[in-house]
Amino acid sequence: HIPVIAIDGPSASGKGTVAQLVAKKLGYHYLDSGALYRIVALAAKAQNISWQDGLSLADLASKLNISFKDGEIYLNEQNVSEEVRTEEMGKGASQVAVHPALRLELVSLQHSFRKAPGLVADGRDMATVIFPDANTKIYLTATAEVRAERRYKQLMSKGIHANLADILLDLQQRDARDQQRTVAPLQQAKDAILLETSDLSIEQAVRFVLDQSN
Ligand code: CDP
Repeated sequence: HIPVIAIDGPSASGKGTVAQLVAKKLGYHYLDSGALYRIVALAAKAQNISWQDGLSLADLASKLNISFKDGEIYLNEQNVSEEVRTEEMGKGASQVAVHPALRLELVSLQHSFRKAPGLVADGRDMATVIFPDANTKIYLTATAEVRAERRYKQLMSKGIHANLADILLDLQQRDARDQQRTVAPLQQAKDAILLETSDLSIEQAVRFVLDQSN
């Protein structure tokens, strides 16, 4: 039985950073499930497939050659790490992610990341849908204001000009879309542990997850 640590939570909660550090510390594999939805949004745009067309998106996803190497993301052998991280693809991901057919198509790919010695899986439905038998389930969150501030600082540090009020509004819209969709809505699994990080440093959050997984 290969252990899984499932970390779910809303946009910009810091779960990606925490999940990667936990994986590194334990020598586990890492699944960035949000990246899969971002890649589908990117590939759809390139092929003129609408983000509203669930069946075509599922068909597209079944033909994509996606791989991860050294923290970089590849689509058909091409490094798309920068392209998928844009705000546009974040929005696209959140729109394509509402389609049941697409979500179903991506299940087996996500399961294939579960390899020895273990996996840290980061997303919205890791504990509820993809790995319901995960050994450790964490719901990592922070207030919308704190998350907006984190995203703002992240963008500014990359030299990208941003507006805090716009970011907050965008986050709230994304939260609503994630929570209100009919399949795999963002929610805390019944058996997940809540980790509120508004007043925690990254190191403290990582320590908390490691303590829970022992
Ligand atoms: O940085 P942010 O959390 O916004 O992005 P992400 O984790 O890369 O996820 C992008 C979008 O994909 C989210 O807004 C979700 O709508 C969707 N997603 C999902 O539906 N299920 C997952 N397991 C992961 C992401």
